[in-house]
Amino acid sequence: MTDRSRLTELATRRGFYFPAAEAYGGVAGFYTYGPLGAALKRNIEDAWRERFLTREGHMEVDGPTVMPEPVFEASGHLDTFDDMMIECPDCGESHRADHLVEAATDIEDAEAFGTERVADLIADHDVACPNCGASLADASVSEFNLMFGTNIGPGSAAPGYLRPETAQAIFVEFPRLAEYARNQLPFGVGQIGKAYRNEISPRRGIIRVREFTQAELELFVDPESEVDGSDPDADPDLAAVANVPLTLYPIDEQRAEGNEYVETTVAQAVSEGLIGEPWIAYYLGIAAEWYERIGIDMDRFRYRQHLPGELSHYASECWDAEAELGGNWVEITGFATRGSYDLSRHADFSGESMTIFEPYDEPQKIERPAVDPDMSFLGPEFGERAPAVVEALEERAASDPEAFDGEAIEIDVDGETCAIPVAVTGFDVIEETVAGEHVTPEVIEPSFGIDRVFAAVFEHAVRRDVVEGKERTYLELAPEVAPTFVGVFPLMDKEGLGERAREIASSLRERGLTAQYDDSGSIGRRYRRQDEVGTPVCLTVDYETLEGDTVTLRDRDSATQIRVPAPPDEPGALGRLLADLRAGATSFDALAAEYDDGTVVGDGGTDEGTDGDDNTVEGADGRSGSEHGDESTDGGNERDDASGD
Ligand code: GLY
Repeated sequence: MTDRSRLTELATRRGFYFPAAEAYGGVAGFYTYGPLGAALKRNIEDAWRERFLTREGHMEVDGPTVMPEPVFEASGHLDTFDDMMIECPDCGESHRADHLVEAATDIEDAEAFGTERVADLIADHDVACPNCGASLADASVSEFNLMFGTNIGPGSAAPGYLRPETAQAIFVEFPRLAEYARNQLPFGVGQIGKAYRNEISPRRGIIRVREFTQAELELFVDPESEVDGSDPDADPDLAAVANVPLTLYPIDEQRAEGNEYVETTVAQAVSEGLIGEPWIAYYLGIAAEWYERIGIDMDRFRYRQHLPGELSHYASECWDAEAELGGNWVEITGFATRGSYDLSRHADFSGESMTIFEPYDEPQKIERPAVDPDMSFLGPEFGERAPAVVEALEERAASDPEAFDGEAIEIDVDGETCAIPVAVTGFDVIEETVAGEHVTPEVIEPSFGIDRVFAAVFEHAVRRDVVEGKERTYLELAPEVAPTFVGVFPLMDKEGLGERAREIASSLRERGLTAQYDDSGSIGRRYRRQDEVGTPVCLTVDYETLEGDTVTLRDRDSATQIRVPAPPDEPGALGRLLADLRAGATSFDALAAEYDDGTVVGDGGTDEGTDGDDNTVEGADGRSGSEHGDESTDGGNERDDASGD
């Protein structure tokens, strides 16, 4: 089994994720997160919300996933959100044409080429259909729009689309959101939700899917503000991330022979101009810390700058966070400078103002070209078209005042060119006192693909070691994201042990900790079941718990155990201790230094599918001093089921 298929097997068997609707044959690109996967994903989302919204003081919204067609005309997705497709003339299977080129050549970004060049490359390299092996040399390459279309309501009068990014549900609400932000820039609005892309060839599990979860932050900034660190309300807090190490793969290095990474810091990258936009540098910094916090292996991580041909239609600068997964670099987040593209387009298409009014420090006198048309001339001359003539003259005065220098001015009214004597336009340059100006904010966007972040956290957590002579595979998940924080086991479910363990599990749940009660099988097997899904701590109730008010805690990574107080008359004490452990306020080592009383590890565990009877450490009744091993009795309750919890 390859590492990847082992991971897929674990994901399915233990309920992290699996292909959706398999009862009906399944459909590519759709996955269901099972109980453990849903918990891990939710914990990642909560950690994102805490770091990128709560701690930054930003708002969160939850918009619809279906939006009417005009939204995507304005956003540009209807015209430009395409991938290159090639269809096999023999078997009819469709493929991403640029991906086929990348697989057949050294080219890393064939997406940046046009369809013709990609078709030529496919012909030059005589690329074959990955499905049936037929030659694709003569097949044409076309653009395929990735949006899922639908109709809103009966009939086809109101076409709509499933949103291809959550961002649009923020941009279209800008006027209200700006009010909630009291019209003060910068302000940020985040959203965690589903987005949809009708991928030509979904692949690699949850990495390229058709329905996925994004966590996007749209930061609206003043286009005229200089980031110089002088305004703590307006500038990114670069000092807070100055020394965060960054592994950058800038455009120049991607084009150079050696393809070297630049190992730098946020402060250095800004001062050397490696990262153009200071806000992007700030987000790369806090994101690097966050990825590490949630368990991504920073030795398998880099920030890669988009090549010019790769940029989305709205972006002027973009860096991708990429994680190495199964030997490939996979984008897990994009950090883009979207400029005023989205708000300007939505203003043009909707007619709504998408600006912020920025008052000047002092009212200012300005000169403004204006018209005051003579309606006694325009009325009889143009009749009901006169208001349109006035509007056209006003627009022309603002955009092209020199046009009023001659005898007559030509304007376009309802498609007809009309000549108006300048004398009747009342054109003049008037002086006005203005209190401020309307500005269209620019947007900085960190856009996280939560499923891909999940995939990186999951794959990077896999560890293998040997405990008490037995091989073990476990997930070293950060306590903050682990689906279950603590496994709670009675040595066996009799003589009050099970009852006490259930009480403890329920008091821990009341504290908000995810606790899984398990009395099935040997203790060793129960440890291994929790190790395999990344549960950081296991707690065992044994006879000493009943006699001496203590339980054992076992650390997943080191497999060491300590005995800590669990007084039944103070149920909160154990919960506090474990909550501190989860929050990182204490560590297993610190607890070991405080509480270790010589508890002996008994953790031989079992191999999958065996009972592990060879791992006996303690007596059948579990009364072996402060020890308990993995082969305690199970009261006849053993389940020969390596997968079952
Ligand atoms: N909002 C950026 C993206 O969906 O790629």
